[in-house]
Amino acid sequence: GSLSIRPREIGIMAAVAEQVVADLREKCATPASLLRDVASAMAGEMSAGLEEEGGSKVKMLLSYVDKLPTGREEGLFYGLDLGGTNFRVLKVQLGGTKKRVVDCESREVTIPPHLMSGTSSELFGFIASELAEFVADEEEESTDLLNGKKRELGFTFSFPVRQTSVASGTLVKWTKAFSIDDAVGKDVVAELQTAMEKQGLDMHVAALINDAVGTLAGARYYDEDVVAGIIFGTGTNAAYVEKANAIPKWEENLPNSGDMVINMEWGNFFSCHLPVTEFDQELDKESLNPGEQIYEKLISGMYLGEIVRRVLLKMSLQSGIFGDNDHCKLNKQFHLRTPHISTMHHDETPDLKIVSEKLHEILGITDTSLETRKMVVEICDIVARRAARLAAAGVAGILLKLDRNGSVDNQRSVIAIDGGLFEHYTKFSECLESTLDELLGVEVSKSVTVKHANDGSGIGAALIAASQSR
Ligand code: GLC
Repeated sequence: GSLSIRPREIGIMAAVAEQVVADLREKCATPASLLRDVASAMAGEMSAGLEEEGGSKVKMLLSYVDKLPTGREEGLFYGLDLGGTNFRVLKVQLGGTKKRVVDCESREVTIPPHLMSGTSSELFGFIASELAEFVADEEEESTDLLNGKKRELGFTFSFPVRQTSVASGTLVKWTKAFSIDDAVGKDVVAELQTAMEKQGLDMHVAALINDAVGTLAGARYYDEDVVAGIIFGTGTNAAYVEKANAIPKWEENLPNSGDMVINMEWGNFFSCHLPVTEFDQELDKESLNPGEQIYEKLISGMYLGEIVRRVLLKMSLQSGIFGDNDHCKLNKQFHLRTPHISTMHHDETPDLKIVSEKLHEILGITDTSLETRKMVVEICDIVARRAARLAAAGVAGILLKLDRNGSVDNQRSVIAIDGGLFEHYTKFSECLESTLDELLGVEVSKSVTVKHANDGSGIGAALIAASQSR
C-alpha cells in the first residue's frame, strides 16, 4: 500500500513522472518558425486542392454557395444541424434589412450513440422524426406565416460531402464519432427526403451545407468583411470565399457572382511540420479513421481529452505516481473528455482542489500530491496550447492564401469562429488569438479580427436556404 512507500521512492516516482512531462513538452513544442512552416504548408495545400480533384489531402470541396446572405432575406425558414454530439432543429423568421432575425426557435437533442454507427436509414429516420415532431408542435402562427407555401429547409451536415449542387451531395467519408458504412457515397439529401416522406413530412431541402460554411454565412449576414468561417468543436474545419476563377478544378460555368464558398475540410491536413507524438500516433491507430484527419486529431474537442488521458496513463504506468488506484477508468478510451481537461486546466484554487475532485470523479484517482496535480495541469496546458497554436497557424495559412497577411489600408479581415472548444475552453481561445497576433505581427493583426460567431451553423443554413429560394 502507499503507506509503506518511503520518501526516497516517492522522489524517484516524481522524477520519472517529471521526465514524461518534460518529454511531452519538448515533442509538442510549436515555436513561431514551425508555425510559419505549417501556415505556408496549409496555403500550399489549399492551392493544390483547388488545382485538381484529389490534388491534396485538404479536399477544398465546392459548396455551390455562390451568394452569401445580404441581410435582405425575408420569411420563415427551417434548419437542421447534424454533426457534433447534438442534433438540432430550428426555425428562423427573417425580417429583412431592418429587422433581421425576428424570431428563432430551436430544439436540441443528444444523438443516441448507437445511431452513430448503425445504418443510414436509422439515422435519417431519427432526424426526420425529430423534425416531424418539431413541426407538429408548431403554433398556428407559423402556418399563417408560410402563407400556403412549402416549408423550406437548410440542412447543415458537418461531414465531407462532394456536392453536386447547393442542395445535393454525396458523403465522401465519415469523421469524428460517426461511422455508418452504408451511407458513404449516398446522396444525403435524398436519404433525408426519403425519411421525411416516411414521416409524411412535406418539406423542401433548399440547401445542404457544412457547419463551417454555415458559420461563414451566419457571420456574413451581419458583417460584410467576414472572409472565413471556422469551427473548433468536436471536429475542426474552415470555409472561405474564393474567386471562382481561382479554382482550376472547377469545369462548370462560373457563377454570376464570380465567387464560390469552399469547404476546406482542413481537418485532414497533414504536413511533416506537425509535431506528432507517440500518443497521437497511438490515438490515430486506434481511432475510427486511422491515417485520416491528423490535423483534427491534434486540435479538436473530440481528441484533446483523449490525448491527455494517454499521457496520464503512460505517466502512471512508468512512475506509479497515482499510487494504488486501479486504472480501469484511466484505461478506457475517450473516458477523459475535453470539458474535463478544460475544467482542470482552469483551476485557480491554490491547492488545485478542482483538479483533485476531477481526478477522483472521472478517473477514480485519489490522494494525489499537489506536485502531481501540478503535473496534470501542465499536461493539459501542453496539449491545449499545442492545439491552439496549430489552429492559429491554420488561420494564418488561410490569410496567406487570400493575400491578406500584409497590411493594406482600410482592409479588414474578419474570421468568424464557432464551436464548443473555442466557446468554452478559454485558455484555448486566448492562446489561439495571441498566437495569431504573434504570427501576423503588430501591423497586420490590427486589420484582422477574430470573432465568435454564435450559432452560425444553425442560422447559417436557414439563411442560405433563404438566399437560394429568393
Ligand atoms: C469534421 C468534418 C467537417 C466539419 C468539422 C467540424 O472535420 O469532417 O465536415 O466541418 O468536423 O464539425
